[in-house]
Amino acid sequence: MEDLFKEEKNPASHFVQAGERAFNMIALRGVVVFPGQSVHFDLARDKSVIALNTAIERGEDIFLAAQKHAHTQNPAPKDIYRVGCLAKIKQVIKMPNDSVRVTAVGLERMEITNFVSLLPYFKVALTPFPVQKSDPVLIEAVFRRLAEQLEKYKKVDVKLTPEAESILKASDAAAFVGVMGSQVYKKEDEKQKLLSFSDEFSQLEDIYAFLSRETEILSVEKKITQKVRQNIDKNQREYYLREQIKAIHDELGDAEDELNMYRERAKKKKLPKQAFDKVNREIAKLERMNPTSPESAVSRTYIEWILDLPWHEVSKEMKDLKEARRILDEDHYGIEKVKERIVEYLAVNRLTKELKGPILCFVGPPGVGKTSVVSSIARASGRKLVTMSLGGVRDEAEIRGHRRTYVGALPGRIINGMKLAETVNPVFLLDEIDKMSSDFRGDPASAMLEVLDPNQNKAFKDHYLELDYDLSKVMFVTTANTLDTIAPPLLDRMEVIELSGYTYEEKLQIAKRYLLPKQIKANGLSDGMVEIPDALMKDIIAHYTRESGVRNLEREIGAVCRKIAVKVVGGELLKDSVYTVSAADVAEFLGVEKYRDDKQVAEDEIGLATGLAWTSVGGVTLTIEVALIDGGKGDIILTGSLGDVMKESCRAAMSLVKSRAAAFGIPPEKFNTTDVHIHFPEGATPKDGPSAGITIATALLSAFSGRKVSKSVAMTGEVTLRGRVLPIGGLKEKSLAAFRAGIKKLIIPIENQKDVKEIPSEVTDALSIVYADNIDTVFENAIV
Ligand SMILES: Nc1ncnc2c1ncn2[C@@H]1O[C@H](COP(=O)(O)OP(=O)(O)O)[C@@H](O)[C@H]1O
Ligand SMILES: [Mg+2]
Repeated sequence: MEDLFKEEKNPASHFVQAGERAFNMIALRGVVVFPGQSVHFDLARDKSVIALNTAIERGEDIFLAAQKHAHTQNPAPKDIYRVGCLAKIKQVIKMPNDSVRVTAVGLERMEITNFVSLLPYFKVALTPFPVQKSDPVLIEAVFRRLAEQLEKYKKVDVKLTPEAESILKASDAAAFVGVMGSQVYKKEDEKQKLLSFSDEFSQLEDIYAFLSRETEILSVEKKITQKVRQNIDKNQREYYLREQIKAIHDELGDAEDELNMYRERAKKKKLPKQAFDKVNREIAKLERMNPTSPESAVSRTYIEWILDLPWHEVSKEMKDLKEARRILDEDHYGIEKVKERIVEYLAVNRLTKELKGPILCFVGPPGVGKTSVVSSIARASGRKLVTMSLGGVRDEAEIRGHRRTYVGALPGRIINGMKLAETVNPVFLLDEIDKMSSDFRGDPASAMLEVLDPNQNKAFKDHYLELDYDLSKVMFVTTANTLDTIAPPLLDRMEVIELSGYTYEEKLQIAKRYLLPKQIKANGLSDGMVEIPDALMKDIIAHYTRESGVRNLEREIGAVCRKIAVKVVGGELLKDSVYTVSAADVAEFLGVEKYRDDKQVAEDEIGLATGLAWTSVGGVTLTIEVALIDGGKGDIILTGSLGDVMKESCRAAMSLVKSRAAAFGIPPEKFNTTDVHIHFPEGATPKDGPSAGITIATALLSAFSGRKVSKSVAMTGEVTLRGRVLPIGGLKEKSLAAFRAGIKKLIIPIENQKDVKEIPSEVTDALSIVYADNIDTVFENAIV
């Protein structure tokens, strides 16, 4: 207000001179009005609204001038440009916020010469300020330049109105300036400048300068925005892709991580160079694969095999041989020689370090502790134990694996065993190597030979792995029931240690000290809870089992413990009480006795003799039956799955009996009118070998002479055509079998006398042994 009063005192403001016209004036913010151009603006200030209303009341036009600064609230005359535009008010709309919206159209350019009054609104004295015409040639030239420039401008500013173009074509300078000024020019001071030029040429020139400058600026701006847009697009695209990849990876358990994990593991693993290169090549291959493809699964399996295998990890070996012996004793009763041999073997290993020595092979009937002694070896030497059962292995690929081209290929059992061992120096048990057979799929024995050969097993080649694998630190140990079926080159590599069957007394000790405690534990009972008196244990041994080893015995003891465990669970027994098994319990728990000695010793019979055989299940008694068929032609019929040697033995025995016929009062013609049937009844197990010779001869003689053979006699021995008795093998096993069968007299070849010391005294105490050098001695002792 103060300001206004000051202005009020300005005396010059009060006069309108000749040639001048006085009009109400509105100071506009940010708007410059050009003649011929319509304009919209809002008025909020009272001063402006009153100026507008009085002008409208009087039907007058109004003078519109721009403020020099849009932010000035109450502009004084000095704040207002002198050049403005007289305008006709077209429309006034009252807005809800008490402002008014005005539409007006510019009439002519005028200049303020004086402020007539400042309050309550501006009233100014004006003089016309027409634009001076310029040389039309000049104007034409400028217009041409402008046309070019406008073309360029159009490319950078899409907002250019078609109106501007058409006006340009008409070369109407005033209209062109109006359109450009009100629609194209951006800044008020530039607009004001354009409005204020005195002549057409200057105005057009300014427009030309403006256009070229703006074209430049806009094109640079456009470039920048494009670049920015491109950047944004690129970022967005990358972001989108990354999101997609992340989603895929999440789906697939993160292939990237997996590859890194493999690489890391390969580095940490300290692989031999060959394996390291191979696994890294495979990882690189995997990287290029679709992670969901079947090939990548194959690749991954392969990588994992290499990374899982032990390549240098060792378990610390136990050096103390006394401790080793203690462990062997802890696990097994008796078998002194076997334990000694094992300790020796371990001692030699300590010295040589390299396992160049022969492979141990434990041979013996089932259940004598071959497998369990090997696990003791592992314990006693501080090595891990892996077991590979070779029973029924007939395919080389089982040992050496399948090539990776084969669908579902995997390494063989040797490499598999090494993976389980997690160390390169385990005890590797090749169980039942005698049960390995060969067929069209290749010879597993030759693969086995490579495994066991210290010169070759430094670089064992598994088909799947395709890498040299060092087996030289592995302690291979084998077991077998018999040596007969082991391939000779394999057998050559082995040092055979025999485990023979146990006597009753040994079985009793094994049962009491080892099997019973083991079964008590296995059935979840507390230590020492079950007691089986010796007499009962012997009963179980004699009447519920008939075997060289203790496998069935262990099973029977297990059955007893199980029954007791049931009682504990059922609440019949307290968990910590001690239960002493009675005879009635044995009958109840184990059922009727399976074997009875006295049945065996039933009656003496004609044509029936008891032999002894040494089989893979240990020693067994073998009954030989001879039946004569009258009205025959002297043919020999053989039944009972016999091997060739056995068949030969039968013919030889026949000839022998013929040669002794006279001594036993057999008419010689009887041999021509009688067919002979020799039968070996004991099951379908193939029987072979010459050691049944004297038994066959005895049965034949009994049949032809009609004299009985003593049932309490068992015999073993080969016989020549002339009747000489030749030595046999497996005497210990055979004598144990005779003893188990309740035999009282044992006839053996005289040359086997040296082996009798191997027979346990328990057996020799119960049997009388007859040494025969001749078939006649046999007949004397066997025929009743
Ligand atoms: N001398 C022994 N002392 C203690 N336990 C034995 C003895 N011999 C065998 N056993 C036990 O008898 C069971 C059968 O032995 P195992 O090793 O399977 O026999 P194999 O492999 O010779 O057929 C195992 O529980 C084993 O520990
Ligand atoms: Mg075994």
